[in-house]
Amino acid sequence: MKKYNTLVVVGSQWGDEGKGKITDYFSQITNLVVRYSGGDNAGHQINFNGEKHKVRIIPSGIFNRNVVNIIGNGCVVNLEQLNEEFDMIKKTFINHGTLLISNRAQLVLPYHIQIDEAQELARGKNKIGTTKRGIGPAYQDKVSRSGIRVGDVGLPNFKEKFKKVWEYQKVFLKKMFDVEIVDFDHTYNSLIENYKKIKEQVIDCGEYLESAIKEGKKVLFEGAQGAMLDIDHGTYPFVTSSNCSASNVALGSGISFKYIDSVLGVVKAYSTRVGAGGFPAELLDEIGDGIRQRGNEYGSNTKRPRRVGWIDLVALRYAIRSSAIDKIFITLLDVLSGLDEIKLCTSYKMEDKSISSPPPTAEEFEKCEAVYLSTPGWKEDITNVKSFSELPDAAKNYLKLIEKFCEINVAGFSVGPDRKQTVLLEEIF
Ligand code: GDP
Ligand code: IMO
Ligand code: MG
Repeated sequence: MKKYNTLVVVGSQWGDEGKGKITDYFSQITNLVVRYSGGDNAGHQINFNGEKHKVRIIPSGIFNRNVVNIIGNGCVVNLEQLNEEFDMIKKTFINHGTLLISNRAQLVLPYHIQIDEAQELARGKNKIGTTKRGIGPAYQDKVSRSGIRVGDVGLPNFKEKFKKVWEYQKVFLKKMFDVEIVDFDHTYNSLIENYKKIKEQVIDCGEYLESAIKEGKKVLFEGAQGAMLDIDHGTYPFVTSSNCSASNVALGSGISFKYIDSVLGVVKAYSTRVGAGGFPAELLDEIGDGIRQRGNEYGSNTKRPRRVGWIDLVALRYAIRSSAIDKIFITLLDVLSGLDEIKLCTSYKMEDKSISSPPPTAEEFEKCEAVYLSTPGWKEDITNVKSFSELPDAAKNYLKLIEKFCEINVAGFSVGPDRKQTVLLEEIF
């Protein structure tokens, strides 16, 4: 039941599901877009009017003039990167929306990037394959209570406070990894310069949102990464360092969870994963290579080739439960055109046992083999399809199988990267 005009858009797999595109699409009818977790480890590509744009930390509603975009307290923010990103948007897109930043968001500082790199090196063959943007170390500092928040930078005694933190990080980097920390004066001066550029945009996010929601404004909460990369519910330890699941919306934006009306899970028509970790439905053959090429499955920022696999309905059912997903939106359906057969992973086999939910440990997850259901593919180009009825029967059947095995409705699908290549099947917001 719709009570407040709020919607969560959350990734339901291992990230890169097309959340940015779907958020941008709904931003056309939204007042506010709020990021509630993650940092510039995210990378979203948004295409419209023949233009291609990228965002990392800025919410994907920024390409709509009337939208207020907020970086919530659950995020970690590299102010230098944020300013670079916003400057680029201002240069290339005049009618951009407003950007605000929570005073409680944690900062990603240059030494976090140094620690991220050093930790990955130390992990050797067990490395996670992080984006090396300092995300994990920034969240580590948040939890160990030695982080710096956006609101701290404006305080009169900030330099002293920052110096103490920097001294600690200097010893940590030297003793743990034999790495020299970045220069204090340079780091401090650059932080102050970058803070000055955004200081008028710093707000109390929870307070701001509470009044907006009560006024009946439409608020979209944009997830980064995906449910299977969630620090608690994902494929730990091959996950990111934040709760990207929809359950974190309230904590990561400072509102009551009672204000959340509904959750839309964005689901790629197949699976991809960047970085290490189990991937039962992975395709290591020419079918996978073909999907990677057609789907342009290379990191939007890091350019790393994404690992590709068939859709994993075991992981998806789990994400639907852990993120309280009400409806799903299938993206990149066009990429599957041309295949003779398409497979759906419906359960796993682990040491001769059939299991229907991802096991908790990485060791067990690595042992899981996908059990597939096979369905005929379609040859037609579907990139101009505008309704469900225009889809080839095999594509209709594919969507119906996903609905059946996950006991959920497909609320829409996407047949190309452009804003217009989006088919909405029911009103959800
Ligand atoms: P996000 O991180 O979830 O926002 O996803 P990314 O932007 O990292 O990756 C999704 C990629 O697929 C981007 O390059 C999009 O432009 C592209 N994309 C989104 N939807 C579709 C679609 O329906 N078809 C095709 N072919 N590409 C799409
Ligand atoms: P979007 O929002 C895909 C992955 C990294 C690595 C792991 C930990 O574009 O979907 P981190 O730098 O967060 O410590 O890396 O998480 N990862 C993503 N994979 N899409 C993302 O974001 C990701 N953000 C992090 O590849 O495996
Ligand atoms: Mg991405």
